Amino acid sequence: MSDDARAETAERRQAMGWLARFGMTAGLAAAYGTLAAFMGRFLYPARPQPRGWLYVSEARRLKEGASLRYRTPSGATVNVARQRPGDDPDAFVALSSTCPHLGCQVHWEPHNNRFFCPCHNGVFTPDGTAIAGPPAEAGQSLLRYPLKIERGLLFIEVPLSEVAQGPGRLIELDGPQGPGHDPCLCAARPVREA
Ligand code: FES
Repeated sequence: MSDDARAETAERRQAMGWLARFGMTAGLAAAYGTLAAFMGRFLYPARPQPRGWLYVSEARRLKEGASLRYRTPSGATVNVARQRPGDDPDAFVALSSTCPHLGCQVHWEPHNNRFFCPCHNGVFTPDGTAIAGPPAEAGQSLLRYPLKIERGLLFIEVPLSEVAQGPGRLIELDGPQGPGHDPCLCAARPVREA
């Protein structure tokens, strides 16, 4: 082998050794990074978002089987329904009125004991579980809000950032509610407290 060929082989070996060392170092760094991220999550778990309470209505306004619609300060609409007599929170349910399928507004049907979405006949149980229509097929239930009653006043729990935006308001929807109509497009108007 000539001197030139020998020198070239030595250079190639040197370069390959350097590449191998670099690869090993990079692999170790990635492994340590992953381990550090995992340990960080274990030692400092993500803090739950602070929550607060929004006043909705006097509980007595809701007779058994009745519901009202409430708009949070951020614009989300919530159906609050009374499902049995009594002034304990379990007598009520507060569910997002936005259908998880395509965002139409669902409403409470006391005679059928269900929430109904007229856009594609989505049906939900009183606790918001989807049981028919596209939401049931996709396993998409209604978002449920924790609620409480204090001195006859009904509150729902929301992120604290939402409480900071000011009070929400009761609303009702104008316009047709039957199948074939999209209640998302109906105008909402405020309702005065009794
Ligand atoms: S938007 Fe409610 S069922 Fe489709």
